[in-house]
Amino acid sequence: MEESFDRTAAFDLADKLETEKDLTDAEFASVLLCDDPGFDEYLAEKARTIREKYYGKSVYLRGLVEISNICKNNCYYCGIRRDNANAERYRLSEEQILDCCDAGYELGFRTFVLQGGEDPYYTDDLIVSIVSAIKERHPDCAVTLSLGEFEKDSYQKFFDAGADRYLLRHETADKEHYEMLHPAEMSFEHRMQCLKDLKDIGYQVGCGMMVGSPYQTTEHLVKDLRFLKEFRPEMVGIGPFIPHHDTQFAEHEAGTVDMTLRLLSVIRLLLPDVLLPATTALGTIDPRGREKGILAGANVVMPNLSPSDVRGKYLLYDNKICTGDEAAECIRCMAMRISSVGYETVVARGDHVSFGIE
Ligand code: 5AD
Ligand code: FES
Repeated sequence: MEESFDRTAAFDLADKLETEKDLTDAEFASVLLCDDPGFDEYLAEKARTIREKYYGKSVYLRGLVEISNICKNNCYYCGIRRDNANAERYRLSEEQILDCCDAGYELGFRTFVLQGGEDPYYTDDLIVSIVSAIKERHPDCAVTLSLGEFEKDSYQKFFDAGADRYLLRHETADKEHYEMLHPAEMSFEHRMQCLKDLKDIGYQVGCGMMVGSPYQTTEHLVKDLRFLKEFRPEMVGIGPFIPHHDTQFAEHEAGTVDMTLRLLSVIRLLLPDVLLPATTALGTIDPRGREKGILAGANVVMPNLSPSDVRGKYLLYDNKICTGDEAAECIRCMAMRISSVGYETVVARGDHVSFGIE
């Protein structure tokens, strides 16, 4: 009998989350721990409804250019960490990056995400030059940077050059957990300071965390949700942790599809108009992961526009998908996947709008 009581309680909490857009920490924990098979679908249905209220059936496409896999950091989970001597390194020149964006523009993209390791080759001046050149060639496009931690004055220069958005995952909102995932030379405080600086400068900011990262507990995830609610990012990128064979976490379990989907739905209900990508990592642990992500409340996908000869090298984790495909093929495949679940891909700039609801 007690079980059925718990079940009802969890469903009630989903209703409460839908109407109040928040829960207490203990209530979040109950939602994350409920393993009733019907519960995830109940949450997902609510998440879809609210997502459709704000965004209709549109799924926003962002063109991802992986500019470099050279990184001065040594995050324990990441396949392109500095100490991985087996990673085959590459970096794209300014000209190659601009060529990718031009090709993406022809394919219809109006947002470019430049993502890379923390590669000192890209000085502030070079990043400014690249951002300015993209904006000059394509004034109707948004430029998103995802290049890691910098000091505030550098972020300011990139913003002044025309960068609109910045993605920097917080990774975990718990300092001790952060320290279990990163070497001592990296700091939780600095990561949080970067996110605050980005917001103060005026960027649209994306943060996020891995689901099922080593040593992650339900309490850590609850802290992540609390952080998201307070920080109010414009985008939240979450995906399952997937072990990379050349890291010290090689033998750790991957995060699960179910927990990732549940968190996508919870985040959609918590921050109704947030941009929520169905990530490549989710597509990697489940062949229909991205479609399931859309059905759980996600509304963004980021097809890879990187040149085909480097795609197989930007490997943060094992078995990454879309590493062998040409950009055009990948986009066609993505559009088919999205339409197979009743949604449509939109390439418009898709600035964050709240439509005065809420
Ligand atoms: N599994 C899943 N995601 C990972 N990332 C890095 N390594 C992995 C991994 N092994 C994520 C981190 C980082 C983003 C670029 O990719 O959250 O911020
Ligand atoms: Fe990239 Fe299918 S989405 S190959």
